Amino acid sequence: MGFWKSLFTASDAAAASRPAQPEGQAAPVMTTNSGTRIFFSTDREIDLYELEELCDAVGWSRRPLRKVKKAIQHSFLVVSMWEQRGAQRRLIGFSRATSDHAFNATIWDVVVHPDFQGKGLGKALMKQVIKKLRSEDISNITLFADPQVVEFYRHLGFMSDPEGIKGMFWYPD
Ligand SMILES: CC(C)(COP(=O)(O)OP(=O)(O)OC[C@H]1O[C@@H](n2cnc3c(N)ncnc32)[C@H](O)[C@@H]1OP(=O)(O)O)[C@@H](O)C(=O)NCCC(=O)NCCS
Repeated sequence: MGFWKSLFTASDAAAASRPAQPEGQAAPVMTTNSGTRIFFSTDREIDLYELEELCDAVGWSRRPLRKVKKAIQHSFLVVSMWEQRGAQRRLIGFSRATSDHAFNATIWDVVVHPDFQGKGLGKALMKQVIKKLRSEDISNITLFADPQVVEFYRHLGFMSDPEGIKGMFWYPD
């Protein structure tokens, strides 16, 4: 675990000094001794079945793929995380954000495949999303945390109910 984390921290700093990748082009962020590479991508042409498999792996309820496709198309930002071994690519993480393109963005569907959890990759994914949103001058970043991941987000600087503000929901009857 320490190996992955220190490696990511080092390559994160290197990534920050590299020129920004063109939209959609995968940027290598990590290479292990075995030659496996971890990439981020902002390409929204994602195989929906592969994404569904990833979401299944963490036990999320299935959603209609046509709606998932629409949600991805209309998101402001999509960041996916890939493991590359030789010519093979595997989707191992995903997140997206909606936005008013000026002040606010909300992060949705943060997921890391269980095989890759606990290695600092969720944190890396979130940092990538935040970096991209900040680069668009978005300053108010919000999300809805499941109870079991509140601490994960708190570690990343997210606050619950700042100044007493409460998230409120409306659902159809
Ligand atoms: C939540 C999730 C994205 C975290 O990804 P991950 O790769 O396991 O997290 P990381 O290894 O990057 O952990 C980063 C830090 O958060 C901590 N952390 C991770 N998951 C945590 C949790 N559920 N509760 C509290 N802390 C957590 C880690 O201990 C680590 O702390 P450290 O930096 O002090 O060592 C991942 O567990 C996941 O996909 N869960 C299922 C889907 C889900 O619940 N998504 C969120 C929906 S709101």
